[in-house]
Amino acid sequence: MISVRDLQLDEQGRLRHFLTVEGLNSEWLHRIMDTAETFGSVRERQVKKVPLLRGKTVVNLFFETSTRTRTTFELAAKRLSADVLNINVAVSATAKGETLLDTIRNLEAMSVDMFVVRHAGSGAAHFIARHVAPHISVINAGDGRHAHPTQALLDMFTIRRHKPEFGPLKVAIVGDILHSRVARSQIHALKALGVTEVRVVAPRTLLPVAVESLGVKPFCDLDRGLEDVDVIIMLRLQKERMEGALLPSEREYYRCYGLTSKRLAKAKPDVLVMHPGPINRGVEISSAVADGRHSVILEQVGHGIAIRMAVMVLAMRSGQ
Ligand code: CP
Repeated sequence: MISVRDLQLDEQGRLRHFLTVEGLNSEWLHRIMDTAETFGSVRERQVKKVPLLRGKTVVNLFFETSTRTRTTFELAAKRLSADVLNINVAVSATAKGETLLDTIRNLEAMSVDMFVVRHAGSGAAHFIARHVAPHISVINAGDGRHAHPTQALLDMFTIRRHKPEFGPLKVAIVGDILHSRVARSQIHALKALGVTEVRVVAPRTLLPVAVESLGVKPFCDLDRGLEDVDVIIMLRLQKERMEGALLPSEREYYRCYGLTSKRLAKAKPDVLVMHPGPINRGVEISSAVADGRHSVILEQVGHGIAIRMAVMVLAMRSGQ
């Protein structure tokens, strides 16, 4: 079977699909962020558009709910002057039993150029990438518990904006690591960018078995896990992916793992507080912290447009 690297990069080493951060080195990640940097000013223009994807058709195919990812992909494609098709899966023929591959084949017949896919099944975007025509790019917008690569990239971009040197940073990822595709992609990105210390902080029931093999330091005590860190990335509890009772209650979880102003004081004075969203106030984070001066949560959302523009442009170049 074709490797993920060979699937993701073309013969000239250009990005053809964007499925995972795994296998992309620091140079690649900085190239995507540098490209995003060039799109930052588009939002300030009177006409917020550049013609780079004029004539291209992008299909947003979301089989799971989304607010931030779907809308920022749509805005990114529109700002690149592409035509955008949003498929509402709830009222599509999927509800009548059409297979994923048949849906893709039918959309392909409409001469599309790119699929942006979110799916509950880990590996769904890879599966589609293996089956589409050579000129079509597939962008993974989150697959099951596996990967959410554009989220990780926009998170790295946000960190780089505030703390340009990744090497010396200590980063704590806090919350439901076990079910989080975001955490997996962030860990791969942070390690590739050379971050000294990546910590994962969670109750033992929400840490994957042998998580150390990813090159991270696990902590079950939040106060210890936050000591002296430069960046805190909070994650929500993914109740929709939990089987059985992994936690006593949300109240107990907040007592032990909720990020409050008191706990924030354990970290460095200029710590960044991040969250991919959606946030659950009073479950993993207090409102005072989510809306406080260390929070860059809404900044992350804004950077999602520039990062997604960059990924789309780089992937479309491969087909030209
Ligand atoms: N961060 C993120 O993936 O949010 P959405 O589920 O709203 O897209």
